[in-house]
Amino acid sequence: MNAITSSSQRKVHVPLGERAYDILIGSGLIARAGAEIASRLKGRKAAIITDEHVAPLYLEALVNSLEGSGIMSAQLVLPAGERTKSFEHLMTACDKILEARVERNDYVIALGGGVIGDLAGFAAGIVRRGVRFVQVPTSLLSQVDSSVGGKTGINSRHGKNLIGVYHQPDLVLADTDVLNSLSEREFRAGYAEVAKYGLIDKPDFFAWLETNWSAVFAGGSARIEAIATSCQAKSDVVVADERENGPRALLNLGHTFGHALEAATAYESARLVHGEGVSIGMVLAHEFSARMNLASPDDAKRVEKHLKEVGLPTRMSDIPGALPPAEKLLDAMAQDKKVKNGKFTFILTHGIGRSFIADDVPASEVLAFLKQKQPQ
Ligand SMILES: NC(=O)c1ccc[n+]([C@@H]2O[C@H](COP(=O)([O-])OP(=O)(O)OC[C@H]3O[C@@H](n4cnc5c(N)ncnc54)[C@H](O)[C@@H]3O)[C@@H](O)[C@H]2O)c1
Ligand SMILES: [Zn+2]
Repeated sequence: MNAITSSSQRKVHVPLGERAYDILIGSGLIARAGAEIASRLKGRKAAIITDEHVAPLYLEALVNSLEGSGIMSAQLVLPAGERTKSFEHLMTACDKILEARVERNDYVIALGGGVIGDLAGFAAGIVRRGVRFVQVPTSLLSQVDSSVGGKTGINSRHGKNLIGVYHQPDLVLADTDVLNSLSEREFRAGYAEVAKYGLIDKPDFFAWLETNWSAVFAGGSARIEAIATSCQAKSDVVVADERENGPRALLNLGHTFGHALEAATAYESARLVHGEGVSIGMVLAHEFSARMNLASPDDAKRVEKHLKEVGLPTRMSDIPGALPPAEKLLDAMAQDKKVKNGKFTFILTHGIGRSFIADDVPASEVLAFLKQKQPQ
């Protein structure tokens, strides 16, 4: 872990050369946002992009904090939800940034979950060929995952996140108090990504979560600790492989199965949200690894036990409504991942915290496995 600034605030530095930045994690950061930004960035103009759920809760506090530090802001409130990651809303965001006369030293501020962060980051990456960008992530998922690493973008009718740019933020302010207004379901879904970092390569962190998860859910220092450890883990992977030519793919643990389930439920959040798909996907990845004699079946059981205990779905049969047959799920996976000569690239594991990239997984094995797992 990097520098600890106080017991209630942590700092993770992302050392990316001239694109390096800090992630501050802690209580009360929205109220201190103006001071934190003003002490790091020169510009005194900002365009805040947020959504209709987050705006009534935190927009005024952010605007006031900026004003207190001499930063004037324009604000844009977009509809909440995945559909906002569209060309239409990107255009609105770009227009707002230009209308606010945000110049290259000024900044776009994303106040919201991953949807707002991805869209606002993309807009910041393309307006005037790139203006500065501050992330104020408000969902657990965005605090531990999407606000860090510089992937930005929108969806296309051909699939999720297919249009975008890499544009690293200049600062990330993760105010852990705002997670108290997140629904329990969204909090849990974000927690799946926290557990993921333990399962990728931090077995001690996974064991810590098994003991401390309820304190993480309750808030306070355990929550800050879990978020800071997650941000450090993501930062390490991003620094090693910023543009996903290799190890960054490990972050996709559980996601090949998960994305197929998201597609199979037509991204209907009433049935499945991303983190829930990842939870089921991580259990499937461990079970599939055991089936391939790469890991012990006890590890898959241990992963399932923990995710179930926190209230996450762990089986395909936990998803309400019918799922398409195994062949269709396999097709969805083939769309998501590269398939060469009937072989998939998959994140598999030798056990808890020992995941690896396997690029020679036979599609026939995956199909046989899915048929065995299918609830129908
Ligand atoms: N860029 C990346 O590296 C990366 C990584 C992972 C996920 N993502 C993207 O992130 C998105 C998912 O992010 P998400 O789960 O944050 O979804 P989201 O932005 O839709 O937020 C989930 C819901 O919670 C609400 N919300 C957010 N913060 C709140 C708060 N503090 N209090 C009350 N309500 C709040 C939102 O309005 C929304 O309704 C997806 O589009 C995904 O593709 C990107
Ligand atoms: Zn994810």
